[in-house]
Amino acid sequence: MAPFIRLKSISKHFADVVAVDDLSLDIEEGELFCLLGASGCGKSTLLRLLAGFESPTKGVIEIDGQDMAGVAPADRPVNFMFQNYALFPHMSVADNIGYGLRRAGMRGTELAERVDSLLKLVRLHKLGGRKPHQLSGGQRQRVALARALARRPKLLLLDEPLAALDKKLREDTQFELVDIQEKLGTTFIVVTHDQEEAMTLAGRIAIMDAGQLVQVDAPRRLYERPKSSFVADFLGTISFVDAVVASRDQTSITIGGDLNICAACDDDLPIGAAVKLAIRPEKIYLSRTKSGNVNEIEVVVEDLAYLGFATNYRVKTASGQMFKLQQQQRRSLDAPLSWGETGYVHFDPQDVIVLQD
Ligand SMILES: Nc1ncnc2c1ncn2[C@@H]1O[C@H](COP(=O)(O)OP(=O)(O)OP(=O)(O)O)[C@@H](O)[C@H]1O
Ligand SMILES: [Mg+2]
Repeated sequence: MAPFIRLKSISKHFADVVAVDDLSLDIEEGELFCLLGASGCGKSTLLRLLAGFESPTKGVIEIDGQDMAGVAPADRPVNFMFQNYALFPHMSVADNIGYGLRRAGMRGTELAERVDSLLKLVRLHKLGGRKPHQLSGGQRQRVALARALARRPKLLLLDEPLAALDKKLREDTQFELVDIQEKLGTTFIVVTHDQEEAMTLAGRIAIMDAGQLVQVDAPRRLYERPKSSFVADFLGTISFVDAVVASRDQTSITIGGDLNICAACDDDLPIGAAVKLAIRPEKIYLSRTKSGNVNEIEVVVEDLAYLGFATNYRVKTASGQMFKLQQQQRRSLDAPLSWGETGYVHFDPQDVIVLQD
């Protein structure tokens, strides 16, 4: 069966700017899909193409098995929640939510019941009579969401839906958004440039760069098995070691140079191949004394930042290789190392990501 959304070699040019560059992507019905990327990489343009506010310079967009070429925005099974959504200030919350339904001709008990169920969905059932200015930012956000869902679109496009909220409210609203999406089973495509938000929300994330998709995967795979140093670096913190394969067996490689690092690796890499090893901060252990573990390296503490729940360190080897690591705060551990102190890091070969770009 064809996927719910199919983008086939889509490009969008604005004069000499290539906003979307030969991009192909399938999204299944009911997915909560996130587009993540730096400012200007083409996220909003991709949403606008799906909504029909722009038409592609090249390529085909299919939604629900139908070619969208020439189909007006209002005739697509799609609704859009803009970043700077505006509620009608003079209308009550309930009237805001019902606005699109009334315009489509719905009246009476059908309208009242639909609005009521939407108010319940976004947990505002006691506040239907209020005006937008009598709500908190998060509540207004939920009204906007209910309004966008009112006509039961099959696809909801959300462009930075939580950007206006402060951190705490944003985190709560993220969980709510996931809940609502699961309840309805509506396909959501959410644009964000906040990686933590994408990780929290999405079943799958597409990392976008310069109009192209660099990797599309589940959050865990993107984080633990990035396919390029761009993705590894974009998502979270990571330390890179540039090296050359010095020896190998069936399941691992060892690099040459002064760092004798062993990394799990199934790829058939020849001796002499240039690689980039990447290690996440929470996978690196730091101790004052030698432990005899594999991949143990002597380091000096260059920098540390106490975060309460953990301490972030930057440590350096004698040859100048830097590692960034995070150590959880636990009573059972030694007192944390301090600035300038010598210690030892070690990490499991399984936790070393081998990249070849
Ligand atoms: N109507 C337009 N005319 C000309 N150039 C445009 C137009 N819309 C977008 N662009 C350009 O296309 C590129 C992609 O823009 P887009 O708005 O899709 O980025 P974005 O990923 O949404 O960025 P942000 O995170 O800042 O919102 C940018 O270089 C932008 O300047
Ligand atoms: Mg944008």
